[in-house]
Amino acid sequence: MPTPTLLVTGSSGLIGSEVCVHFAERGWQVHGVDNNQRAVFFGPQGDTRWNQKRLQEQLGDRFQHTELDIRDRPGVLALLDELRPEAIPFDDFDTNATGTLNLLEATR
Ligand SMILES: NC(=O)c1ccc[n+]([C@@H]2O[C@H](COP(=O)([O-])OP(=O)(O)OC[C@H]3O[C@@H](n4cnc5c(N)ncnc54)[C@H](O)[C@@H]3O)[C@@H](O)[C@H]2O)c1
Repeated sequence: MPTPTLLVTGSSGLIGSEVCVHFAERGWQVHGVDNNQRAVFFGPQGDTRWNQKRLQEQLGDRFQHTELDIRDRPGVLALLDELRPEAIPFDDFDTNATGTLNLLEATR
């Protein structure tokens, strides 16, 4: 059976990095996407490069990092076209998109 492929956005962050480890240890080929935007948001203290490095060292060939801003639509399209992942976790989407919509609806 071919190795299943997972795409993890925010892969250098707290949750994303643990998702990467979880699936890589269970035989998935994990592709992480992160542009260290956290360092832009929070300054040097928010830098997540150390976590990217940890994943690369700990997971070896099971993990590949892509430096990409997920707001870059052509970039995301090209990456998905290339990787054709079997799965993309939706937890972040549900939290951010659905959560924001709930707040907007409640405000209205
Ligand atoms: N930590 C929690 O307890 C928790 C609980 C529920 C939901 N969440 C949500 O889950 C998501 C991840 O949480 P976290 O704690 O792992 O956050 P985090 O800040 O540790 O990680 C987010 C990662 O996403 C990257 N990133 C941000 N913008 C990006 C962009 N435009 N392109 C590419 N990469 C980008 C950052 O560089 C960072 O490494 C957040 O949206 C958060 O609101 C977190």
